[in-house]
Amino acid sequence: MTAEVPVRQPPASLVGAECELDIGPVAHGGHCVARWDGRVVFVRHSLPGERARVRITEGDQSDRFLRGDAIEVLAAAAGRVQPPCPYAGPGRCGGCDFQHVAPARQRELLGDVVAEQLQRLAGLQRTVTVLPVQPDALHWRTRMGWTVRADGAVGLRRHRSHQVEPVDVCPIAHPDTPLVGIEPRPDLRRIDTVVSSAGEQQVLADGQRVAGPAYATERVGERTFRVTGAGFWQVHPAASATLVDAVLDLGRPVAGERAVDLYSGVGLFAAFLGAAVGGHGTVVAVESDGAAVRDARRNLHDLPQVEIVNARVDQALRSGRAGDRADVVVLDPPRTGAKARVVRASCELGPSRVVYVACDPAALARDIATFDALGYRLADLRAYALFPMTHHVECVALLERR
Ligand SMILES: C[S@@+](CC[C@H](N)C(=O)[O-])C[C@H]1O[C@@H](n2cnc3c(N)ncnc32)[C@H](O)[C@@H]1O
Repeated sequence: MTAEVPVRQPPASLVGAECELDIGPVAHGGHCVARWDGRVVFVRHSLPGERARVRITEGDQSDRFLRGDAIEVLAAAAGRVQPPCPYAGPGRCGGCDFQHVAPARQRELLGDVVAEQLQRLAGLQRTVTVLPVQPDALHWRTRMGWTVRADGAVGLRRHRSHQVEPVDVCPIAHPDTPLVGIEPRPDLRRIDTVVSSAGEQQVLADGQRVAGPAYATERVGERTFRVTGAGFWQVHPAASATLVDAVLDLGRPVAGERAVDLYSGVGLFAAFLGAAVGGHGTVVAVESDGAAVRDARRNLHDLPQVEIVNARVDQALRSGRAGDRADVVVLDPPRTGAKARVVRASCELGPSRVVYVACDPAALARDIATFDALGYRLADLRAYALFPMTHHVECVALLERR
């Protein structure tokens, strides 16, 4: 006799199921938290305190965490507005998270998110005020990455999807964003557009320049920076100046000091640190991207006190190429954060001040916890709404040696 092998059924999908939920606090990622039958649902297009009909967009019967969209608001909260973008809403463009929220309320939500991450991941109790930066709602994004559909339609990706929402005009894009009039090619997937602070317009198709100059000219204060191709530069037109002011104000570099600028890009902070420490001081700028380093060499050629190291930060710190001591360390890592090894090696340089520029509050909070364990306490934190309508927020933290 053969034993019957039970056939295991996959858990039933809940996608498409609808329920009425009370919406709880905002969470990191552009959604709010609600509970449904003992499960957590991360609900987009909602606000804390609302009651909404929610359609599940991800998850099955075995999941404790689901995702959903508020498809009908049954009781609206203060701060809800009509989205100014015609492409925003459940199932539509995924570029923005908070089109349905007034800008001042968006900043409150972002402040709550930063505070919650600091509390949960670094054990720090703090109220966080997110400061507005003009323009504070629309027309700010100077760098856009467009996706091209197989039929040639140009648009932006839907939320957590490879599907393209065809878009004629993106209301958060800078008004001078070049119209993407490129002949459709079957192999074309991505178009990048840039509007520089000098007014140049660039178009790149799959990374190759098709219109505009080879590099963007960006002005910050009295200085000019060249940024080649789709290389990193802050996307909000006021971001670079705002962050330079914060770095100098918190880091307090003075003549004769030694500064280390980690993840230095095309040399934005190194330029102003170099001016602050003067000819008797030193700045070591570390950046792994070859094109950014070439731009940095051009951008900083008048500052012999700045040494540019083309290396990964962890390797430059381990090998001693970033030097063996510093008075002030500036870190501006990518979204994943600096992580424990780089934090430890930064502390080993013995700086009295560390300024950490962060585009992800979770990574920042984790790294702050590491700094704290190594004797560097969070002395100040500033937060800026440099990505209006989205869940992204930029923080600048000052860590001081105890
Ligand atoms: C957020 S950007 C900051 C750039 C610059 N501070 C600015 O404000 O323009 C992060 C930079 O880190 C660089 N990068 C990423 N991972 C790196 C690593 N492991 N080592 C060195 N540089 C890295 C990227 O190429 C990028 O230029």
